[in-house]
Amino acid sequence: MNSEPLTYDLCNQGFHIIDGWLTAEQCQTLRSAAEELYSQGLFRSAKIGRHVESHENNTIRTDAILWLEQNETNPAIQIFLEKIQQILQLLNQSLFLGLNEFETHFANYQPGTYYKKHIDQFATQKTRKISFVYYLNKDWQDEYGGELKLYDLDERLIQNIMPLENRLICFNSTLPHEVAITHQPRYSITGWMKTRALSPI
Ligand code: OGA
Ligand code: NI
Repeated sequence: MNSEPLTYDLCNQGFHIIDGWLTAEQCQTLRSAAEELYSQGLFRSAKIGRHVESHENNTIRTDAILWLEQNETNPAIQIFLEKIQQILQLLNQSLFLGLNEFETHFANYQPGTYYKKHIDQFATQKTRKISFVYYLNKDWQDEYGGELKLYDLDERLIQNIMPLENRLICFNSTLPHEVAITHQPRYSITGWMKTRALSPI
């Protein structure tokens, strides 16, 4: 994979979009997996803040999530995780980010849900460096809403990104962003490439 557009865009505008990242079939398989797991009631309403101190806060986000594990048996999920790991290594080689690991979850936004403007880094622990979102929504229309709104550090809107099938976006985790209210079920796989946490002494 040629890293240049990815590293160039991340450095110069803070984000990079790759359309057609996986095969159409792999994307469809991931969508089916997400729908199946959602219908089994395995998604949980998402929380704000670090796991230990988190609390449900419906005024900021109303999506539901399911964390992925490294040992997932679904081959499409395995390929997804491997390809994210490749991007992580590529960013380490080209930008010396010192990324150590990533965490990722499925997300489902039902009609009427949203995620208000936020940043993905926690105030107490800034180990999340690169955010990524992979969208699973076939034939998404503009009027469905649900776009990702990305802002610069001065809170100026820099891009509206529609959650289109087989689209991957990577962005700097320091950038504010929000998910506009969606009018159709919206599926994605969201995650963060992280540096190792420093020991608290
Ligand atoms: C998040 C988030 C963006 C999106 O989960 O932190 O900002 O487009 N998601 O789903
Ligand atoms: Ni976010």
